[in-house]
Amino acid sequence: MMAKHAVAAVGEIPRGGRKIAQIKGRSIGIFNVEGEFFAILNHCPHQSGPLCLGQVSGFVEANVPGEYHFTRRGEIIRCPWHGWEFDLKNGQSCIEPDHTRVRTYKVTVEGPNRDSSSVELPYKAETYPVTINDQYIFVEIP
Ligand code: FES
Repeated sequence: MMAKHAVAAVGEIPRGGRKIAQIKGRSIGIFNVEGEFFAILNHCPHQSGPLCLGQVSGFVEANVPGEYHFTRRGEIIRCPWHGWEFDLKNGQSCIEPDHTRVRTYKVTVEGPNRDSSSVELPYKAETYPVTINDQYIFVEIP
């Protein structure tokens, strides 16, 4: 069964940023790629390096010699140990996408839960209004 874990307020991880969180004994990196959040295990499939500490970049492509352009900027992470590269969006290896991948986790962004305010109970203590404006990032893990 999947469980959702709050890992950060949305404002904590700006575009291009990351946060490494410990969730149920696992080290997981949460990345903001152009306003979308993705989570991968901080454990490189090659030799168990700290993948989420690596440099985030993209690809340089050239259709003709001398004409280079950047693509997929901010979507690729390079392991700091030996340079293996992985797609932050799906965990696939850039070299062997069919055979090697890093574990990914579902990420959702949700606002504060307001459901409890609609439940009527027979006895009430004095209450004060509390406002939570920020949204939170949740990672689902088994
Ligand atoms: S441990 Fe990541 S590339 Fe070797």
